[in-house]
Amino acid sequence: MKEKIFIAGAGGMLGEAFYNVFKINYELKCTDIDLNEQWLELLDFRKKKNYFEEVNSFKPDYLFHLGAYTDLEYCEQNEEDTYLTNTESVKYAVEISNNLNIPLLYISTAGIFDGSKETFDESDSPNPQGIYAKSKFFAERFVQENSKKYLICRAGWMMGGGPKKDKKFISKILKQIEKGSKEIFVVDDKLGTPTYTYDFAYNTKQLLKFKKWGLYNMVCQNKTSRYEVAKEVIKILNLENKIKVTKVKSDYFSKTYFAPRPSSEILINKNLAKIKMDMMRSWKITLKEYLNTYFNRENNAI
Ligand SMILES: NC(=O)c1ccc[n+]([C@@H]2O[C@H](COP(=O)([O-])OP(=O)(O)OC[C@H]3O[C@@H](n4cnc5c(N)ncnc54)[C@H](OP(=O)(O)O)[C@@H]3O)[C@@H](O)[C@H]2O)c1
Repeated sequence: MKEKIFIAGAGGMLGEAFYNVFKINYELKCTDIDLNEQWLELLDFRKKKNYFEEVNSFKPDYLFHLGAYTDLEYCEQNEEDTYLTNTESVKYAVEISNNLNIPLLYISTAGIFDGSKETFDESDSPNPQGIYAKSKFFAERFVQENSKKYLICRAGWMMGGGPKKDKKFISKILKQIEKGSKEIFVVDDKLGTPTYTYDFAYNTKQLLKFKKWGLYNMVCQNKTSRYEVAKEVIKILNLENKIKVTKVKSDYFSKTYFAPRPSSEILINKNLAKIKMDMMRSWKITLKEYLNTYFNRENNAI
């Protein structure tokens, strides 16, 4: 009989990959407030009683708490709401998984670091700057201090979800291309490590399989900048002669992107390397795979 996983907040970018990667070997119950797939069932994980009841009745072997508010500007302007969604609900997840004596998976973020140096491994102390980063870090710390058995996997700049669900950097670049922009302005003073949702899901699956509980940075290989990622998108799509990518500094976008962002949020997968389970591929390879899979130009997806 297959082991069972309850996934809370599975309707987003990461949930799409988790569903496809885990459904092969596990029985899943996937929930969200946004029912954008037929395989999703309704659960608002902020409703503690409902969360308890839904998980208890499914009797899973693992609880995955994936969902969060991920729009940094929304979080900056809606502090209380953000803590309820990104921090308080994670406390419920810890309580539920402890009661059932099952491991908990929590997804954290590279954004909890302050950019005071270039790279961060698991031995570095987080110093979150904005509301989103704080809400995610407080939850991460709560899991570490209170969960009996947990996996915390930290992602970087998320790539995934496809045209329907991708609301992050890649989709913002593609939307400008779609609009017919001949010049795209991109910051070159923000460094990070892209993270393909499928690599992230596969690597998590291996950790689960071998019961390697603990804290893991889990990002694609090779550091980069937003500018370099945008250039690579244009190159992969063969648009180098048609679209110019122009470097700007972050203050160029200070009105639109007013939430604090560290100058560097490059993660090093030190704990994965230690146990020889770093399966994350280079970001350029995964970006190409992502664009070819979901945004095939011949199919007029962009
Ligand atoms: N995206 C990134 O760049 C990034 C980077 C590092 C770490 N992470 C972390 O990775 C995890 C997955 O993020 P993602 O990229 O998949 O984000 P996403 O695409 O925004 O998906 C998150 C999902 O959670 C749902 N959700 C929000 N509040 C909920 C609630 N009260 N009950 C149930 N579901 C709720 C969202 O619904 P709505 O859309 O209706 O709000 C959305 O479907 C999050 O924990 C995030 O913090 C993300």
